Amino acid sequence: MNERIRVAIVFGGQSTEHEVSRVSAQSVAENLDKSKYEAVMVGITREGRWLPYNGPVEKLGTGEWEAIALPGADKARGLPEKNLPEMDGAEDGGLPTREIDPAREILVSVVEEKGAGKKIDVVFPVLHGLNGEDGTIQGLLELAGIPYVGSGVLGSALGMDKYYAKIIFEKEGLPQGKYLMFTRRQFDVDLDSILTQVEDVLGYPCFVKPCNSGSSVGVGKACDREGLIFAMHDAFKYDKRVLAEEFIDGREIECSVLGNDDPVASTVGEIIPCNEFYDYDAKYSANSTSQIIIPAQLPENTVQRIREYAVRAFKALDCAGLARVDFFVHKKTGAVYINELNTMPGFTSISMYPKLWEASGISYSELLDRLIELALERHGEKMGF
Ligand SMILES: Nc1ncnc2c1ncn2[C@@H]1O[C@H](COP(=O)(O)OP(=O)(O)O)[C@@H](O)[C@H]1O
Ligand SMILES: [Mg+2]
Repeated sequence: MNERIRVAIVFGGQSTEHEVSRVSAQSVAENLDKSKYEAVMVGITREGRWLPYNGPVEKLGTGEWEAIALPGADKARGLPEKNLPEMDGAEDGGLPTREIDPAREILVSVVEEKGAGKKIDVVFPVLHGLNGEDGTIQGLLELAGIPYVGSGVLGSALGMDKYYAKIIFEKEGLPQGKYLMFTRRQFDVDLDSILTQVEDVLGYPCFVKPCNSGSSVGVGKACDREGLIFAMHDAFKYDKRVLAEEFIDGREIECSVLGNDDPVASTVGEIIPCNEFYDYDAKYSANSTSQIIIPAQLPENTVQRIREYAVRAFKALDCAGLARVDFFVHKKTGAVYINELNTMPGFTSISMYPKLWEASGISYSELLDRLIELALERHGEKMGF
């Protein structure tokens, strides 16, 4: 009677981190223990179409899955992405039609597609960034009453919004750099006051980023007034609220957290970006020579402090399941600053989150087991069992 747990892996999404999500999802699908789980894959296109996908797992990372999954697509030829049929509404420059059905319908139809007629036991939303890591999908799954891996609506939304995360970190007493938040409206009508505030409070260089950013998209370093205006312009392309932050001349240290009510922190790792800072290319370009060092070479008391801060940050934002908490350790003073918390960190087999657990004695497959267990546990608690 040992039935396998049916896991829906949701990937892609309407996010600047769509590609990264596909690669993460491929690793998750490849590493799920087949004797315990049956994986059902559901891709979300950049246009927001939900497509059940039964094809080869290797085609997630390359993006070829979409041509196979799209209804009516030429399966045999496996059309490249650029030749995909236009989405309704896209040709007139308007927003493409969203084909999002209520959650239950989507998930039930996926199950039917597989022909087994059984319900999905748990969803693993392997989605990074907006429309996935920000509480939106989590809300849908809550409404549908389906257990899912990771943080709930609040934790996901707080982790995604760098400004509100900072407010809560401050309340929790976690050390962080100085910051200011500005709206697009302020930028449009009162740029002078923004420039004065940044120069008075933060000075140069400073960092500018959309409140809701990921993968360093829209993140820029400003060294003078001209650079600040340029960086703000760029950041406001991605969000109507933007943060300006004090520049921290720090080493980039990351810590993985796992659990629900009693989360635990892994050992810590260091990123050595190959560019001036850890920008999109330094993270993902094929030519990137950025390095990951595990464990980070830091004094033991600094490591312990980071692990303690990581757990406190996780609890303060009401996270569940997993999160990667990122820090700066000042190159000169050794002071620790929290930078951000990611509720669905990169999950490829070479990503920092699983690598840190591997170094702490938990393999990638065991990590998946644990995350699914935590998802079911949390759902059970919510239901009062
Ligand atoms: N205040 C800062 N001081 C120094 N470097 C920063 C600062 N904020 C961001 N960075 C650099 O930019 C990168 C991306 O910024 P981050 O806030 O982590 O956004 P994302 O969510 O896109 O990863 C960081 O990894 C770091 O290299
Ligand atoms: Mg980051």
